[in-house]
Amino acid sequence: MNKISLSKDINWVGVIDWNIRDFHGYITQRGSTYNSYLILDKKITLVDTVKKAFSEEFLAKIQQLTDLEKIDYIIINHVEMDHSSSLPIIAKLAPNATIITSQRGQDAIFKHYGKDFSIKTVKTGDKLDLGNRTLQFIEAPMLHWPDSMFTYVVEEKILLSNDAFGQHLASIYRFDDEVDEHVLMEEAKTYYANILMPLGSLIIRKIQEIVKMGIAPKIIAPSHGMIWRSNPSKIIQAYLDWSVGKSEPKTVVVFDTMWNSTDKMARAIIKGVASQGVNVKLFKLRSATRTEIVTEILESKAVIVGSPTLNQQMFPSLSAFLTYIIGLKPKDKLWAFFGSYGWSRGAVKSMTEMAKKVGFRVFETGLEIKYIPNQEDLEECYEFGKKIAKSIKT
Ligand code: FEO
Repeated sequence: MNKISLSKDINWVGVIDWNIRDFHGYITQRGSTYNSYLILDKKITLVDTVKKAFSEEFLAKIQQLTDLEKIDYIIINHVEMDHSSSLPIIAKLAPNATIITSQRGQDAIFKHYGKDFSIKTVKTGDKLDLGNRTLQFIEAPMLHWPDSMFTYVVEEKILLSNDAFGQHLASIYRFDDEVDEHVLMEEAKTYYANILMPLGSLIIRKIQEIVKMGIAPKIIAPSHGMIWRSNPSKIIQAYLDWSVGKSEPKTVVVFDTMWNSTDKMARAIIKGVASQGVNVKLFKLRSATRTEIVTEILESKAVIVGSPTLNQQMFPSLSAFLTYIIGLKPKDKLWAFFGSYGWSRGAVKSMTEMAKKVGFRVFETGLEIKYIPNQEDLEECYEFGKKIAKSIKT
């Protein structure tokens, strides 16, 4: 194996998960990686581990660079199993290693794997001398779990950020400048939208805190996907933009349908939106993934949601979608609802109530059409789309 180095003596020893397509509900269309880093200093240090299914490959990579007994420290930045489930295996094979983690990391390790570990807890600002370089720790609670922390290599200005700044992107390449920039940013955005969107204000504060600590990373090495070495400020700026809810005059229409009436309404609505020069994308829920829809919503100003009425309620697929998007707390969107019904209404009312309950800004009264939309109804749909587009342009 060729060494993959971030700098002299800091090596990537992670694994590539080419086949994963469902990461606890997030559709990972391009697979993922679990990144781990081995620092060959006077004190040999491993930063994070990988998913247990890949532990053999992982151990083999480390053993090409050092004997496991020589490892002095294992840093656990985050206990979610994609990064820690090889810990019990490697801790046994590296009996001289002390595990370094946050207080909450220790609690989580005990709950996941028992208490038979030698652990030292650290907090923000604590440092660890490895001989030729120093590690500094920064707690980052909720990015992604309460236990999460970052590890900063002071002398080389490398931020090992665990989940933050990651992307689910399997590739033979390891660095941002080696892959297609469009694909890289698309996957970084998808990752942010589907994992970190509800944590925008925490992210802004964490970035401000890091700047105040005098940390200006030359390299950001996350635990998933590519390592940002060519221009780390690009991903930091993207996170700041996404965190404040920076959006474009763009609209997403999401719908499901039973006998195509809501489908016809949706198509008339997008024509109305487009008539105002506003970009619009249409997603049928049973054809698109929630993951891609949410990614489009991240930078959109309006979301128009359509459902037929089934048993006086919204269609179940819409209920699942709204539950997902509400949990992600999208910022500053205008929400509008429409749908068809047969003999009794219900979908638009139940969707509107669900959105208002969580404080979403809802556009006027929703639009409902009985049975099959006729020409006049479709014109009403067109006007509905037009009005929404006009309201987000101003
Ligand atoms: Fe990649 Fe929160 O684990």
